[in-house]
Amino acid sequence: MAEYPSFDITGQVAVVTGASKGIGYGLAKALAHAGAKVAVMARDTAALQQLVSDIEAEGGEALGVALDVTQVPQIAPAMRQVKDHFGRLDILVNNAGLGFNHPATDVTEADWDGMMDVNLKGLFFCCQAAGKIMLHQGYGRIVNMSSQAGEVAIRDHAVYSTSKGGVNMLTKVLALEWSARGVTVNAVGPTFIYTPGTAERLDNPEYLAGVLARIPINKVGTIADVAGAVIYLASPAGGMVTGHLLLVDGGWTAQ
Ligand SMILES: NC(=O)c1ccc[n+]([C@@H]2O[C@H](COP(=O)([O-])OP(=O)(O)OC[C@H]3O[C@@H](n4cnc5c(N)ncnc54)[C@H](OP(=O)(O)O)[C@@H]3O)[C@@H](O)[C@H]2O)c1
Repeated sequence: MAEYPSFDITGQVAVVTGASKGIGYGLAKALAHAGAKVAVMARDTAALQQLVSDIEAEGGEALGVALDVTQVPQIAPAMRQVKDHFGRLDILVNNAGLGFNHPATDVTEADWDGMMDVNLKGLFFCCQAAGKIMLHQGYGRIVNMSSQAGEVAIRDHAVYSTSKGGVNMLTKVLALEWSARGVTVNAVGPTFIYTPGTAERLDNPEYLAGVLARIPINKVGTIADVAGAVIYLASPAGGMVTGHLLLVDGGWTAQ
């Protein structure tokens, strides 16, 4: 009998960090639409409450959990809360991230520490806390939000690109350590995605033209484009993929 891939994540329990706005907000809704029960985490609890209401209004199940990923002692209790509430933790989407850019000569120590604490250190300890639960249950899917900027250099992105390059290497190391025990670890690397956070820049025709000149597919990405990659990696169909960076970049890094 032929074997067909399954993209079904119905009933799986997913965590999305940095879910209070932007890509994370949309990813959480997309995972819920695909049938997952979703725990949404961020610092802005009012926004999380709105997201939980949005998901429930569409017939989904969601839980809001306050989490500042720079506060490492908060992370393991937050992941345990999800396991206690839903009984499992199947999917972790490490989406929380900061994205400012300055010329390297202007970067301050506070810029460096602030971005690394969220994009790399916080992400690692979220992997560790959720990973322990997943390893114990013998199943898990971790998807780390990287960027095309972790794969190719982008001017004025010294700290951001370095943090995302670190995410890519961390993804590979964790894949080596955990995949044989049922936990795959991958990363998704978007190009510019149209969100409330990038709208101001992308609505500037000159800026947009500069961006599109680098994207062979000739458009910026959408949150749905990112969600498609995340759901694939979280689904049974993605089960043979681990330690991989799936670029959702319209071809930016192909040149
Ligand atoms: N937008 C793009 O074009 C693009 C392209 C490539 C990659 N990415 C990546 O995609 C991810 C989301 O980007 P975005 O554009 O959607 O960003 P965004 O709109 O600025 O949202 C960032 C999210 O991260 C959360 N966050 C920030 N600091 C946090 C902390 N200390 N603890 C917990 N959560 C924190 C924020 O929540 P609170 O403030 O409520 O905590 C917010 O929900 C990031 O990892 C980014 O690097 C974005």
